[in-house]
Amino acid sequence: MEEALLNFARQIAAEAGKILLSGFRSKDTVISYKSRTDLLTNIDTSSEEFLVSRISDAFPDHAIVAEEGSNKEASGEFIWYIDPLDGTNNFAHGIPQFCVSIGVLSRAAGKVVAGAVYNPCLDEMFTARRGHGAFLNGKRIRVSILDDIGVCLIATGFPYKKDDMKTNNSREFSLFLPRIQGIRRMGSAAVDLCYVACGRFDGYWEGWLNPWDMAAGSLIVQEAGGTVTRYNGAAFDPTRPEIVASNGLIHAQMTEILSL
Ligand code: IPD
Ligand code: CA
Ligand code: CA
Repeated sequence: MEEALLNFARQIAAEAGKILLSGFRSKDTVISYKSRTDLLTNIDTSSEEFLVSRISDAFPDHAIVAEEGSNKEASGEFIWYIDPLDGTNNFAHGIPQFCVSIGVLSRAAGKVVAGAVYNPCLDEMFTARRGHGAFLNGKRIRVSILDDIGVCLIATGFPYKKDDMKTNNSREFSLFLPRIQGIRRMGSAAVDLCYVACGRFDGYWEGWLNPWDMAAGSLIVQEAGGTVTRYNGAAFDPTRPEIVASNGLIHAQMTEILSL
């Protein structure tokens, strides 16, 4: 069953990626604002409508939790966490770093069991199934092998609500900055996680995320040999807003910095 779910997730992620590309740098794309800092485009909505309708048709008893609100309650074994466009700010500014993110959680296992993250600009499809490894365009991927955070490239992101200096990640950012080789804020949490999985980044942290940002990417990191936890090192829970992901070797160094 989980293999079929992953194949289906991969297929619809690729199709939704075409929807994203059709609206990318297009004068027909319409931008609106959920808040002053949180953008929404008609392409987020089109992608979500497409994904939700395909999943509902194929798996009528599965629940769906999607960012733009087309949620579906159902009592079946699986819950689909959908971000129809992760990296909307990049998308709206013409920056080619965004993706479709689809994670499937098994209620029985209490874990994400399949995930697909697709960046259509680079034609990069990251996938994983629990217990069966992580892949980029069909090739096995692994996390990096650096074990000293001082030489590591670390990614992060900031919440839309940035006016509270205690919760806008500036404190954590200033703790990491002097202790690492470099830092990136690329603008798509799901892609950031996949970059940890394939060794482009050595680690990543972010608070105030939603399950649709993290579900697929967290599994992809784990299946690539990495570690994913909460800030305090406790077991990762996609329904809680924070994540630390790493190659495993620098994980304790990351959680220690976050505890300062
Ligand atoms: C956002 C991106 C960004 C992260 C934000 C997310 P969206 O998702 O993943 O990298 O820093 O916290 O909300 O709004 O582009 O789907
Ligand atoms: Ca998102
Ligand atoms: Ca989104």
